[in-house]
Amino acid sequence: MATRVLAVANQKGGVGKTTTVINLSACLAELGKTVLVIDLDPQANATSGLGLPRQHDTSLYRVLLRERSLEGLIQETVVEGVHIIPSELDLAGAEIDVARMEGYLHCLNMAMAPLLRSASYDFIIIDCPPSLGILTMNALTAAQGLLLPIQCEYYALEGLSVITHIMQQLREGRANPDIEIEGIVMTMYDARTRLAADVVSEVRSHFGERVYNTVIPRNVRLSEAPSFGKPVIMYDSNCTGSTAYRELAKEVVERTERPLVVAEAEEPAETEQ
Ligand SMILES: Nc1ncnc2c1ncn2[C@@H]1O[C@H](COP(=O)(O)OP(=O)(O)O)[C@@H](O)[C@H]1O
Ligand SMILES: [Mg+2]
Repeated sequence: MATRVLAVANQKGGVGKTTTVINLSACLAELGKTVLVIDLDPQANATSGLGLPRQHDTSLYRVLLRERSLEGLIQETVVEGVHIIPSELDLAGAEIDVARMEGYLHCLNMAMAPLLRSASYDFIIIDCPPSLGILTMNALTAAQGLLLPIQCEYYALEGLSVITHIMQQLREGRANPDIEIEGIVMTMYDARTRLAADVVSEVRSHFGERVYNTVIPRNVRLSEAPSFGKPVIMYDSNCTGSTAYRELAKEVVERTERPLVVAEAEEPAETEQ
């Protein structure tokens, strides 16, 4: 099977990107898939959440500057079947240095090429920083699909036209002609509030089938697990967060096997521009 490359991005912070990267990856591995997580956020929360200590000179920084190969940086995590390229604070500086490179949008894409040719992984999942800077742009250029977490709160849709517009530009500028929204995952759903239900139906009315059926509940276990350096299924296997991410992993696999066919006209966030 060819590798499926997904960028988990949303320029808003705190919407559940990293939580989704850690737990989706672990649940995909539980289904027998092999996963490489690429931590592109200088905050390195996916790195620590998958049990890796702080390290030095192990991030993608010099890979993006084409000074070393990406394969040499791959490390194991606490989860069997999930490998990672860790992040560290030095990646923050990469924004500026990468911007000076020729073909700066393609730095990650080019670095990943040998790995894609060997199809070593079923999934490569990229955790993006909470911005639409050079690092996120590199992820969107390298990915086949955007996995977009949206928090169930007021203004959930606000700002989404910015990211869909960027994707349109990447397609039209030929930087990444095939980039699509792979799927939208609604996070931190609070079943006790009317607001959460309203937000989910609003997002569904805009994005239709692209929204996964699985909704991730607000669950304290999900926020506790990272401080133990574990995905939630290794921390409390039966909590609602574990169940939800297991269901999401199944949907992600299904969608890889049977991609959605959605007409352009059904993407109102783009046409709103
Ligand atoms: N479903 C959830 N239930 C409870 N807490 C969550 C949930 N998803 C994320 N969190 C917590 O919310 C905060 C932000 O989540 P995070 O995944 O780091 O967002 P992002 O990567 O988008 O900035 C973290 O403290 C995380 O533990
Ligand atoms: Mg994050």
